[in-house]
Amino acid sequence: MSITISSMRAEDCSAVSEIEKECFSQPWSPEDIERQLTLSMARTFVAKDGEKTVGFINVWVVADEINLNNIAVTSAYRGKGIGRTLLEHMEKNITAERCNLEVRVSNEAAIGLYRSMGFEEVGLRRAFYKEPTEDALLMTKHYR
Ligand SMILES: CC(C)(COP(=O)(O)OP(=O)(O)OC[C@H]1O[C@@H](n2cnc3c(N)ncnc32)[C@H](O)[C@@H]1OP(=O)(O)O)[C@@H](O)C(=O)NCCC(=O)NCCS
Repeated sequence: MSITISSMRAEDCSAVSEIEKECFSQPWSPEDIERQLTLSMARTFVAKDGEKTVGFINVWVVADEINLNNIAVTSAYRGKGIGRTLLEHMEKNITAERCNLEVRVSNEAAIGLYRSMGFEEVGLRRAFYKEPTEDALLMTKHYR
């Protein structure tokens, strides 16, 4: 396994859509993914094993604030440090005051990742998610 991280390009979008469909009950559509390339506030990084896209992270940056919209690693590649590498790469490449995110309260893997990277729980949004309905934990990390 040889993992590299790069900014998402047009040719990566269909693989990112597949990972999105695999990982989320209400995935972004392929058009939503492609639109990220045209939004000035959006940054998307992909993780590749050789030529194969195995994960991605998408954030929106508004003023001094990052909102982490999506991070996902295809199931066969989980637990190998790729999620952490994507998050670290995003943090190295974007300067901001803080990063905010929402995560399903049952999502132990993601919450474990965020906690291990210094994110703190700052609130709860009731019934934020559908399919299935579930609360969102709000987490924040301050960089300065
Ligand atoms: C969340 C996700 C991106 C993590 O990616 P990953 O590559 O498997 O994570 P890593 O191997 O980099 O793990 C980094 C840390 O996360 C935590 N973690 C990862 N998997 C975990 C699990 N199953 N249970 C608890 N903690 C876990 C650990 O703290 C781990 O550090 P450690 O290996 O030193 O213990 C991945 O599980 C995923 O794609 N899930 C489906 C999509 C999703 O739910 N995304 C989050 C939306 S908010």
